[in-house]
Amino acid sequence: MKALVINCSPVRNGATSEIVSIISGELGSRYDTKCICIDDYVFAFCKGCRACHMTAECVMDDASVIKDIMREFDEADIIVSVAPSYWADIPGQYKSFIDRCTPWCNTHEPHASIKPGKKGYAVALRTGPNMPECERLIGSIEHFYGHLEIECVAHLGLTSVENKEDAKARKTEILEFCKCI
Ligand SMILES: Cc1cc2nc3c(=O)[nH]c(=O)nc-3n(C[C@H](O)[C@H](O)[C@H](O)COP(=O)(O)O)c2cc1C
Repeated sequence: MKALVINCSPVRNGATSEIVSIISGELGSRYDTKCICIDDYVFAFCKGCRACHMTAECVMDDASVIKDIMREFDEADIIVSVAPSYWADIPGQYKSFIDRCTPWCNTHEPHASIKPGKKGYAVALRTGPNMPECERLIGSIEHFYGHLEIECVAHLGLTSVENKEDAKARKTEILEFCKCI
């Protein structure tokens, strides 16, 4: 079984990356685990043309970049998205990726699809102390999973995480969460 763990932050070496590393380290003993960072990929914003609603294909020049990411999704049985709060939502880079996944959205026919039976997990972190903001990010990720027909199995919200050191200090909590993956 394969697991894909996604750093949804544009910061490759920050708090999110530390959490990705704790999760992938734990999953590595049970799954063939791969990590990617949304910042590994360069793509433009969705233009909202809706051509994909008719054809299930994106007409933009860089459509192959999104297909590369979706190939990673397709190869995985388990998908874990780890996102920091940027202005009380997922980072713009990950939101832009989700927008570009409209060819895969199950609200229109035809639509592209990934293999069924995948399980999705969402982890949100933020500096502030209140959990509802984390739940908002989790909602965005789970909304995306839902339209790709990825089953939403479990999620984790981590408040009061500003940097890598704060993330390291939450290792026990993160490893406990990994038990449900
Ligand atoms: C542009 C930006 C916006 C942010 N907005 C929020 C916010 O609205 N609420 C919050 O609690 N933390 C906010 N933060 C803090 C991050 O969620 C927090 O520092 C997180 O650990 C950053 O992870 P990263 O370094 O992996 O990107 C923001 C950070 C940045 C850079």
